[in-house]
Amino acid sequence: MSASLSALRPELVCTLSLYRWNTVAHDSSTKIASKLLVAVQVSSMLLRHCASTSKLPLTIRQLLSSLQTVGQETKVQVNGWIKSVRRQKNVTFVVINDGSCASGLQAVLKPDITPHNLSNGTSVRFCGGLVKSLGRGQTYELQVEAVDVLGECNPEAYPIQKQALPVEFLRDNAHLRARTDINAAMLRLRDSVLRTIHSYFETQGFLYVHTPILTSNDCEGGGETFRVLPSSSPPLEQSPGSNSHAEFFSQPAYLTVSSQLHLEALTASMSRVYTLSPCFRAERSQTNRHLAEFWMLEAEWAFISHVGDVCHVVEESLKNVLAQCQSENLLLWKDGDEAKLNSLEDAARPGHAWTRMTYTDAVKELEKHHASARVGFEFEPTWGRALQSEHERWLSERLVGGPVFVTDYPTSLKPFYMRANDDGRTVACFDLLVPFIGELAGGSLREERLPQLVQAIHRHGLREEEYGWYVDLRKYGSAPHGGYGLGFERLISWMSGIENVRECIAVPRWAKRMLL
Ligand code: 4AD
Repeated sequence: MSASLSALRPELVCTLSLYRWNTVAHDSSTKIASKLLVAVQVSSMLLRHCASTSKLPLTIRQLLSSLQTVGQETKVQVNGWIKSVRRQKNVTFVVINDGSCASGLQAVLKPDITPHNLSNGTSVRFCGGLVKSLGRGQTYELQVEAVDVLGECNPEAYPIQKQALPVEFLRDNAHLRARTDINAAMLRLRDSVLRTIHSYFETQGFLYVHTPILTSNDCEGGGETFRVLPSSSPPLEQSPGSNSHAEFFSQPAYLTVSSQLHLEALTASMSRVYTLSPCFRAERSQTNRHLAEFWMLEAEWAFISHVGDVCHVVEESLKNVLAQCQSENLLLWKDGDEAKLNSLEDAARPGHAWTRMTYTDAVKELEKHHASARVGFEFEPTWGRALQSEHERWLSERLVGGPVFVTDYPTSLKPFYMRANDDGRTVACFDLLVPFIGELAGGSLREERLPQLVQAIHRHGLREEEYGWYVDLRKYGSAPHGGYGLGFERLISWMSGIENVRECIAVPRWAKRMLL
C-alpha cells in the first residue's frame, strides 16, 4: 500500500492544491463540489495505480510522500547523487537527490561504513532504514546500513561546486547544469505545468495532436525560417538553376516556426486540437525573451466567432496553471524579487479578470504618457506601428498592473491568416502582455472566408500556389475558427522569476551558440 500511494504524489499535489484554491475562493456549495471532485480524483488515481505493475524502484519523492501519507517506517534502497557531505567525528551526514524533489534526502552514515570517496556529484546507492529525523530541516532521514559507490566524482575537477555559479559559466556547461538545484527545479516546473495544461485541455474536450517539424512554408511570413538540406547536398550556390535536385523533398524544406497552419487542417475535422511543439526561428535578437529553438503551446478550435473567446481560454488555462503549480515554485522564488512574485500571485487570483483593451486604445494611452512624462519612450508610439518591448511592459506593468490582452491590431502589422474586422483596417487578434515579460501569447480568429484569404495572401506578397493546401481548407466545409500560440519558456520565466528564457529550457540555442 505504501508503494501504491507514494507513486501518486505528483497528481495528489495538483489535486490538493486545486482543492485549497477552491476552498479559499468559493462559497460552501462550491466547497462541497470541490471535496467531491478531490475524492473522485483520488479514487481514480488509486485505481489507476493499483492496476500498474511497475518494477521501478521508488524515487526519493515517492518514498517521502508514502511515509507522510501512511506513516510507515521502512527499509529502503535509495539511488541518487550526492549534494553535500558533512563529516563529524562519529557520523557523516550526506544529502542525496535523484532529481525527483527539491529537498533530497539526508542520509546518516557511521564511520565503519563510510567510504573515503564520497563527494558532491558522486552517484551512490544507499540501503537502510528511513526513520523520523531528530534534526532540523527534514522530517525523515536514512540510517544507512550499506553503501555502494556507483560512480566517483573527482572533487578537484568537478565544475558544479556547491556555491552559486555564474549564469554564463553554467551556459558553457549546459551538459552539467541540470545538476544545480535551480535548473532541476525549473525542469520540474516545466513538467508540472505541462501536466496541468494537458489536463485542462482534456477537460475542455481538446485532442492532443502532433504536427510536422519539417514544413514547406513560413507560417508567420517573417522570413526567419531555418532551411533544411541533407548534409550530403552540394552547397546551394554551387548547384545552379532551380536547385531542385539538391532538395531532399524536391522543394525547399524548413524547420517549423509555428504549428498553426497544420493545426488548422486538423481542426477542420477534429474541432478542437492542441500541441506543444518545438519551433525554430532564425532571429538574431539577443534579448532575454528570444531563443532560436523554443517550445510553443498552440491550440486551435472551430465554431467560434469572437476573439474574446480565444482570450477566455488563454486566461482560464493560465490561471489554472498558476494555481496548481505553485508548490514547484517555492525554491525558485526563494531569493526572487517580491514585486514580481506579488504581481504573479495577483494575476492568479480567481476574482481578477484580466484586462482587455484594443490596440487603438493602448496606443492612445501610450501617446498620452509619452507626451506628458518627463522621460518618454525611446520609440514614439504611433497608430500603425508595432508596439516595442518598452511599450508592452509599460502597458502591463504600469498602466494595467497585470496581464493585459491587447486586441485588434492594424492589418498591416499582422500575418496574412488573421481574420479581417469589419472596420477594414484591423484584424481580430490579440497579444497577451504580462508584467516583466512582455508578450507571452498571441492569437486570432483565422480568415475562414475564401476571397478574403486569397486577397490577404496576395497583399502580403506570398505565392498562392505555396499555400494551395491551406486555401483548400476554405473551399471544403470552411468553419469559423481561431487559436493561439504561447511561448513555453516565457511562461516558465514569468512563473519562476527566472530572468532569461535561456535558463528556462534544458539546453538553450541562440544565434552563435549551440552547445551539445
Ligand atoms: O506571436 P507568435 O509569432 O505567434 C505565432 O507563431 C502564431 N502562429 C501562434 C498561433 O496563433 N498558433 O508566437 C507565439 C508566442 C509568442 O507570444 C512568444 O511567447 C513565443 O511564441 N515566441 C518565442 N519564444 C521564445 N523565443 C522566440 N524566438 C519566440 N518567438 C515567439
